[in-house]
Amino acid sequence: MAIDTCIFDAYGTLFDVTSAARQAAEDEAFPALADIWQKLAAEWRDKQLQYTWIRAIAGEHCDFWQVTQNGLDYALEVTGLAGDDALRERLLKLYWELSAYPEVSEMLGTLKDAGKATGILSNGSPEMLQGAVSSAGVGRLLDHVLSVESVGVFKPDTRVYDMVGRAFGCEAGNVLFVSSNGWDAAAATGYGFTTAWVNRSGLPMDRLPWTPEHVLDDLSGIPALVERL
Ligand code: LAC
Repeated sequence: MAIDTCIFDAYGTLFDVTSAARQAAEDEAFPALADIWQKLAAEWRDKQLQYTWIRAIAGEHCDFWQVTQNGLDYALEVTGLAGDDALRERLLKLYWELSAYPEVSEMLGTLKDAGKATGILSNGSPEMLQGAVSSAGVGRLLDHVLSVESVGVFKPDTRVYDMVGRAFGCEAGNVLFVSSNGWDAAAATGYGFTTAWVNRSGLPMDRLPWTPEHVLDDLSGIPALVERL
């Protein structure tokens, strides 16, 4: 079925979640980060996501900013960096202005030139997403920026994926859903979207009941994929 709507996950897919720790590590005010920023970034991301899944299962929703702070506090403690309030504050501030991956603007522009509808569907709060979209300068290339706060539950609850049809007035079969999170792309396949997993670091496929249909190294191949579908 032809694709008329391209939906992107935000964190890790359009925006590089490791850029906050990487940029803080370049700051001479935080020498302790130099050797450990990658571990900090990975622990932060892992805990942030785990907390979304547990809260979704338990029906204990809070917004993504809360789990982002909770995940960071765990990560700072496990890496021996707890108690550095200036570092915590700097990392949180950087999270509002994460770098977009270099190919994002051109990829979205090509989709728009081809007449496709485009949007974000993310766990992020509306305010966080607004911050990331405007610091990346991609707002004019997106028709909708959809936050789970509208339904009060995190991915992969199907109420989140339902938001796309409501916002765009499209059928699931006409949607390409793109995520760098294997579990998100897999769950979206189960939902009925055509899916692409952006597997930048060559990770193995998640063992879940569903499998992403297409796997790409980065986002630059998305317009050509959409043409072929
Ligand atoms: C998001 C997380 C899952 O943006 O990356 O929804």
